[in-house]
Amino acid sequence: MGCAALLWGWLLLGCSWGPGLPAVGAAALSTTYVLDDAGGLGRQFDGIGAVSGGGATSRLLVNYQEPYRSQILDYLFKPNFGASLHILKVEIGGDGQSTDGTEPSHMHYANDENYFRGYEWWLMKEAKKRNPKIKLIGLPWTFPAWIGKGENWPYDYPDVTAYYIVSWILGAKQYHDLDIDYVGIWNERAFSSKYIKLLRYTLDKHDLQQVRIIASDRLWEPISFVLLLDSELHGVVDVIGAHYPGTKTVPNALLTKKKLWSSEDYSTFNDEVGAGCWARILNQNYVNGNMTSTIAWNLVASYYEELPFGRCGLMTAQEPWSGHYKVEAPIWITAHTTQFTQPGWSYLQVDGHLEGGGSFVALTDGLGNLTIIIETMTHNHSQCIRPPLPHFSVTPQRATFNLKGSFYMVETLQVWHSRLGFESGNSSLFQQLHPVKVWKGSFSLDLNMNEVYTLTTLKTGQKCGYPEPPPPQPFPSNYKDDFNIRNPPFSEAPNFADQTGVFEYFINASDPGDHVFTLRQVVVQRPITWASDADQTISLIGNFQWVNMTVTCDIYIEKQHDGGVFIAGRVDSGGIYVRRTKGVFFWVFADGTYRVTGDLAGEEILMKGLSGVRDNAWHTLTLNIQGTSTSGLLNGYPLWENVTISEPSNGWAAIGTRSFEFAQFDNFHVEAS
Ligand SMILES: *[C@@H]1O[C@H](CO)[C@@H](O)[C@H](O)[C@H]1NC(C)=O
Ligand SMILES: *[C@@H]1O[C@H](CO)[C@@H](O)[C@H](O)[C@H]1NC(C)=O
Ligand SMILES: *[C@@H]1O[C@H](CO)[C@@H](O)[C@H](O)[C@H]1NC(C)=O
Ligand SMILES: *[C@@H]1O[C@H](CO)[C@@H](O)[C@H](O)[C@H]1NC(C)=O
Ligand SMILES: *[C@@H]1O[C@H](CO)[C@@H](O)[C@H](O)[C@H]1NC(C)=O
Ligand SMILES: *[C@@H]1O[C@H](CO)[C@@H](O)[C@H](O)[C@H]1NC(C)=O
Ligand SMILES: *[C@@H]1O[C@H](CO)[C@@H](O)[C@H](O)[C@H]1NC(C)=O
Repeated sequence: MGCAALLWGWLLLGCSWGPGLPAVGAAALSTTYVLDDAGGLGRQFDGIGAVSGGGATSRLLVNYQEPYRSQILDYLFKPNFGASLHILKVEIGGDGQSTDGTEPSHMHYANDENYFRGYEWWLMKEAKKRNPKIKLIGLPWTFPAWIGKGENWPYDYPDVTAYYIVSWILGAKQYHDLDIDYVGIWNERAFSSKYIKLLRYTLDKHDLQQVRIIASDRLWEPISFVLLLDSELHGVVDVIGAHYPGTKTVPNALLTKKKLWSSEDYSTFNDEVGAGCWARILNQNYVNGNMTSTIAWNLVASYYEELPFGRCGLMTAQEPWSGHYKVEAPIWITAHTTQFTQPGWSYLQVDGHLEGGGSFVALTDGLGNLTIIIETMTHNHSQCIRPPLPHFSVTPQRATFNLKGSFYMVETLQVWHSRLGFESGNSSLFQQLHPVKVWKGSFSLDLNMNEVYTLTTLKTGQKCGYPEPPPPQPFPSNYKDDFNIRNPPFSEAPNFADQTGVFEYFINASDPGDHVFTLRQVVVQRPITWASDADQTISLIGNFQWVNMTVTCDIYIEKQHDGGVFIAGRVDSGGIYVRRTKGVFFWVFADGTYRVTGDLAGEEILMKGLSGVRDNAWHTLTLNIQGTSTSGLLNGYPLWENVTISEPSNGWAAIGTRSFEFAQFDNFHVEAS
């Protein structure tokens, strides 16, 4: 590990650029801004965070070998190291598709409880280990079917839903010693006032008064309007969380006097434009929209890049097989705010729009510390994925700050600087410059475009790093998993990315020997969905670029009569698009038939016949795809051959089931090119 406190090679002396730097034109703007706490402070700051989940966005992270996995976690969570996040928001897995995969529920069935599934528990513990003060948020995207008793709706039995969510919070404490700080309602879907009140009641009944409620993780309305009408609801909702607010709020939200958060934002490809987006909204969500927390979707891009919203994380760690990861620019943009503020600090009351375009915010701990964050992102270089960004312009400018009130006595400020260079490649990220001298409460800065400055009384900032991780490598072209060697504490086999259903390690102690340790699909009823989950279950693995491959897997159908499983290759889609997945699917059914289809839905039938496969017996399937020709083997003997395919030309391997049904898989092997 190395932490650079080294000074950038050029000087920021008092108030002007050193020689050789682009001169600010004679016509440049020069404006004075007053920072004063004498008339009271602005809103309390609640922190900067990121989402793991919504869905399965940290899937591949858990499979990284040490030391790389810990390094990635340090870049995200360790204070004064990298992103130093204040908040971790995780998905409360609900067995359904939530964007890039499914995450397992702690209660697949009404009589089931298990607080060791998935990886969000582990991630929360790793975050807490590094920063005991990090705030934790849980939010469901989907719910297991039993919550709705068959209806695709979580509010018909609000007491059941509240019990389910509160169980998750209690389980976090009981099994992992994690205190959940905030809980949400239903991501980007309807809320129910009755349910929210019952959730508060149920939390209180279990001595969870300290857990705050965020509603409703969608738009500002209708929640704000309803809060103004319903005083009981107003009494139980602590935070209004809106998604992708475009830095704006609405009058009703302000009228509620609630904390306003951008509880999901960013979602942008993590290049420098993504960094520009993030820098702009981190400031302007407060400056334009009075929001006191901004939470990025997503924390770390740890899912196959060809799934929807590939690389929309603050950094990238999508290759556990090579150990390669990349600390992207948004990590260092985050550090500009997170390393020099804490939840509980307050914004100063000041209009943070810069005269020449761009913005600033100023925050204090109320103990004399001051942090000013300035951004001058241009329109073209700071667009987020949504909403559309109205045009604005930014010009070089001189900004003079007059510090008054408690800050009049500040003599020097530490200076941290980033410049996004874009096409020029001339970027510098989170570099410490010479401290600026404050003369009688005043200092000036010449601001250019696409820069971020932090000026702060805190001397604790650090840009830390590790040696370069190993170079990128494609997914191994010969990959086997017999599911015998497990990766505790995880419930899922490495690199399998469930897209509908949940595939878990399973132990059958009464098996005579060959199939004690298997992988089992365990979702047996369509969950309360958030996306268009398929009617079949499917888990992907491998390299999206694979063209030719041989996939072999032992399979065990548990559902009698109409049960069925498949293995597949050239699988071309997943995530929220899972229903329209194409590929080459080799199915066998409990009724003794087989099929070859060109799609997951099973509508495009390429071949069918008898196989002799039955339920509750192990069989070995092999699928061979070479060029336009495919063939299938059962227990090592040809079952069908020379089925011609043209599309798709490439894709992942996969396993899955015909419906929401139990089935097992063992001795998975893929060899591909
Ligand atoms: C919201 O922010 C604006 C702009 O900074 C400010 O004028 C206004 O007083 C704030 N309103 C509330 C209710 O915080
Ligand atoms: C600023 O913060 C530091 C670290 O939290 C603290 O020790 C100090 O008392 C604060 N106030 C001033 C004026 O530095
Ligand atoms: C912004 O981007 C658009 C489209 O790429 C381009 O036409 C325009 O010239 C750009 N403007 C600036 C100021 O770079
Ligand atoms: C990069 O920017 C710095 C500061 O503006 C300047 O000194 C340097 O010459 C630039 N380098 C290139 C390669 O443009
Ligand atoms: C476990 O193995 C036994 C013996 O082979 C078999 O009868 C039983 O069906 C298996 N159970 C499951 C759930 O696979
Ligand atoms: C796939 O197999 C076909 C037929 O054997 C061959 O022509 C093609 O070069 C192979 N492609 C790759 C990427 O291996
Ligand atoms: C496969 O099909 C092609 C085209 O229909 C045919 O030319 C070839 O002989 C067939 N191969 C086998 C092994 O059946």
